[in-house]
Amino acid sequence: MPILKQLESRELVVVTGKGGVGKSSVAAALGVVMARAGRRVLVLEIDPRESVHQMLAAPPSDGEILRVAPSLYLQNLQPRQVLDQVVRERLRFQAIFQRVLESPIYQHFTEGAPGLKEMAILGHSLLLVEGKVPGADKFDTVILDAPATGHGVSLLAAPLLVSEVIRQGPIAHMTADVATFISSPERSGVVVVTLAEEMPVSEALELRQVMDERLDREPDLLVINALYPPFTAGEVDESADPLTALWRQRKDLNERELARLDEGWTGSRLELPLLAVEQGPALTEALAERMDGS
Ligand SMILES: Nc1ncnc2c1ncn2[C@@H]1O[C@H](COP(=O)(O)OP(=O)(O)OP(=O)(O)O)[C@@H](O)[C@H]1O
Ligand SMILES: [Mg+2]
Repeated sequence: MPILKQLESRELVVVTGKGGVGKSSVAAALGVVMARAGRRVLVLEIDPRESVHQMLAAPPSDGEILRVAPSLYLQNLQPRQVLDQVVRERLRFQAIFQRVLESPIYQHFTEGAPGLKEMAILGHSLLLVEGKVPGADKFDTVILDAPATGHGVSLLAAPLLVSEVIRQGPIAHMTADVATFISSPERSGVVVVTLAEEMPVSEALELRQVMDERLDREPDLLVINALYPPFTAGEVDESADPLTALWRQRKDLNERELARLDEGWTGSRLELPLLAVEQGPALTEALAERMDGS
């Protein structure tokens, strides 16, 4: 089965990779593809710089769930907001949660506890696909544009980390549910995005290794983004044409790194070209078309 068809049936797709490689662009395009395939999809962005709305021609979400196309929704949240929301959703009695949220102990704890914010992001994703977020209908798929800070693995390994520290109460409950959710290959998937450049490829290979060691899981798909196009203009004197020389150098780098991925990466991959298309919805559409056609 084509890999995108497999991903379509997942409830959670985590899009991760090094900073600036095109995670948000890929998450937005994947959202478009899946929504068109009939899934009710929410793209969840955890980034105060909020950029996915521009890619989907929508206003900023500002924490709300926004419908951006038939069957396609967007939400941007801050990790702290997510945590508060999860506490609110889990502790249903108003008087208690307000006191918890305002208590200095809670605030101190949530800033310091390793993995807790990441856990809350995954916990919120789980509530979204279970239809348990107040005021929101159930989603078939959440596409999580993973936060740029920290390693992708810190998000995926968060349930392990948190379960070592918190053993009782609503958070412990949520942790157990989330651990089951993200360790199930039927329910969740991981897409690693990279450029065919040295640092992003190293990070992608490392992520794969750590996922294997710590989570006993492989990423489902590698997206190699923004590849330089083949050159078709024939023989050119590169010493007289700096643009061609630049293109050749970038293309060579791409080829070297693709060869390194051939060695170190087994499993599905999708190559996307560097597109001379205006950033925003036009680029999202062009990427979605390529994803869909592959
Ligand atoms: N295939 C592509 N062709 C042309 N431009 C691209 C392509 N993919 C991404 N871009 C552009 O590259 C820039 C970085 O992409 P994007 O914001 O998706 O990366 P990111 O991994 O989410 O970054 P960050 O880690 O900062 O969140 C954006 O300006 C985007 O429009
Ligand atoms: Mg981004």
